[in-house]
Amino acid sequence: MGDILELQEIAADEKNVLAQMVGMDHEQVLFCQDRATGLKAIIAVHNTVLGPALGGTRMWSYAKEEDALTDVLRLSRGMTYKNSISGLNLGGGKAVIIGNSHTDKNEALFRRFGQFVDSLSGKYITAEDVGISPQDMTWVNKETNYVAGLPGKSGDPSPVTAYGVYVGMKACAKAQFGNDSLSGLKVSVQGAGHVGQYLIKHLTDEGAEVFVTDIHEPSLKEVSTKYGANIVGLDEIYDLDVDVYAPCALGATVNDETLERLKCSIIAGAANNQLMKESIHGKAVMDRGIIYAPDYMINAGGVINCFAEVDERSSEWAMEKAAQIYDTTLEIVNGSKATNTPTYAIANKMAEDRIKQAKK
Ligand SMILES: NC(=O)c1ccc[n+]([C@@H]2O[C@H](COP(=O)([O-])OP(=O)(O)OC[C@H]3O[C@@H](n4cnc5c(N)ncnc54)[C@H](O)[C@@H]3O)[C@@H](O)[C@H]2O)c1
Repeated sequence: MGDILELQEIAADEKNVLAQMVGMDHEQVLFCQDRATGLKAIIAVHNTVLGPALGGTRMWSYAKEEDALTDVLRLSRGMTYKNSISGLNLGGGKAVIIGNSHTDKNEALFRRFGQFVDSLSGKYITAEDVGISPQDMTWVNKETNYVAGLPGKSGDPSPVTAYGVYVGMKACAKAQFGNDSLSGLKVSVQGAGHVGQYLIKHLTDEGAEVFVTDIHEPSLKEVSTKYGANIVGLDEIYDLDVDVYAPCALGATVNDETLERLKCSIIAGAANNQLMKESIHGKAVMDRGIIYAPDYMINAGGVINCFAEVDERSSEWAMEKAAQIYDTTLEIVNGSKATNTPTYAIANKMAEDRIKQAKK
């Protein structure tokens, strides 16, 4: 798996599906279409060396089908690394449903999707991601048992994800400021969704000053009223004079343009694929003295929660496992400082080493 990073960036520009799969070293990609329900989905199984590929389903109105493919390939690969670095016996996979999560949802569509998940016979286990609720998963579950994150079971993974991001952020503060308290620190949160809201609660409980933005007005009003978070503009978030930037919406927000503007000394948030190009922007953040908590490591609370459900462990076990994100973050950040290597590269090596060991 050593050359994956370089190849990934070639693959992103490729139009050819198999070339993209080779580039990112995917095992299998399943394209799903059903005229009756209007379902258009892609399921990507990246790697199953450590166990069945577990990763959520995202519902999003992609502008182009190529964008959906690129997203699912990158996200599923990220799950391989996330599951490995979190010490879980799971491989990496992900699915995307192309559609508007506010207007295109119905039982028939999710049941049809469930049939496609079932056709993989357990090689892929699904759960919630952006645009998907536990209710949607109950529809999927009518057609397949390969589902986690169901109501009444481990449920919504967001609280555990938010907790992992919170402790990871504290570890970054310890490394950057010598103290892991977030009290008095200014934190900007992009996205007041499922994870963002729980994260904002942890932050304000500890005495951090929170600045938040979102495209969804009611969510902003809610976090402002409940937790006293300061509402800022969608683009203004990149110019704030804050200690921590927490991306909790979508990926690729750490890029050439935003890096010119960001004044934070820590980037730690829940969003997947935060760096637009890992090798370029992962190094650029380090060169600017910013500690970047690798996204798939710090946001692993959700998959830890799903694993607890699949492996029949308690919610207390999930929270304890998520608390270990603090130590993993410190290990990565200290390794980065000692060797002048970007944090993403340290994390990738840790994840790859575990898979290599398992292969032996
Ligand atoms: N839910 C989990 O347990 C979990 C686990 C791991 C990673 N993640 C990642 O964390 C991120 C957030 O997940 P979530 O479950 O909270 O999703 P969500 O859909 O509940 O919340 C995302 C929020 O971001 C907002 N948003 C969308 N575009 C935006 C923009 N351009 N600017 C500002 N806000 C914008 C949305 O309106 C929404 O409120 C996603 O990237 C997801 O993949 C989530």
